[in-house]
Amino acid sequence: MKIICAKDYSDLSRKAANIISAQVILKPESVLGLATGSSPLGVYRQLILWYEKGDLDFAEATSVNLDEYRGLSANNTQSYHYFMHKNFFDYINIAPDHIHIPDGMAADPDAECRRYDRLIADLGGIDLQLLGIGRNAHIGFNEPDDHFSKYTHQVDLTESTIAANTRFFEREEDVPRQAISMGMQAITQARKILLIASGADKADAIYASCFGPVTPGIPASILQLHQDVTVIADKDALSKCP
Ligand code: F6R
Repeated sequence: MKIICAKDYSDLSRKAANIISAQVILKPESVLGLATGSSPLGVYRQLILWYEKGDLDFAEATSVNLDEYRGLSANNTQSYHYFMHKNFFDYINIAPDHIHIPDGMAADPDAECRRYDRLIADLGGIDLQLLGIGRNAHIGFNEPDDHFSKYTHQVDLTESTIAANTRFFEREEDVPRQAISMGMQAITQARKILLIASGADKADAIYASCFGPVTPGIPASILQLHQDVTVIADKDALSKCP
């Protein structure tokens, strides 16, 4: 695990965007595993700028997102479909049929989970997985548990995650209680993993994930077993690390 200390959020975003750029330049047909939330916003902004300058081309790239809320349709402004289009996809030349996000409205969530895992397998797995991290060290919506969930699954969000996500909604009761999340198999079989974290509220999660025991109680700790993980975090997020 390589840990890089960024000066601040914009430095973190540029460094992470550089790694994604290199991936897409070296392998234009890359399968990119993407995340939503506050952490990657700066990364997406930077990638859009480089795309606009002509330095990046996403025409052959494919994306698979980590997760989607249950019960929110693609055009709901709180959905992760909407987030990804408004913050990234609408501004680059990725082909619409190369964009993949779990369907939060699927009538049969189990079938949707199986479809998503099959899709990732058929794509040949993920080349580069971008991850944020929850305060409770969740990645995707793999919440702390007594086991690691291997496959894409429907998950009941924890109180901590619901509380953290309330900032994106008008009222706490509007925050969906369930999501569909990629499982640990697809995440950890990604050939490269890039985890970004910013702010003091991530310090405990980063410390436990990078230096604590590998345990499903700290979902991101599983990354210690992966051979190519880069953590890019700012000083606040690294403040508990040696
Ligand atoms: C989002 C996701 C989550 C977030 C995590 C951190 O697709 O999978 O694991 O990365 O909740 O969210 P932010 O970046 O908003 O602190």
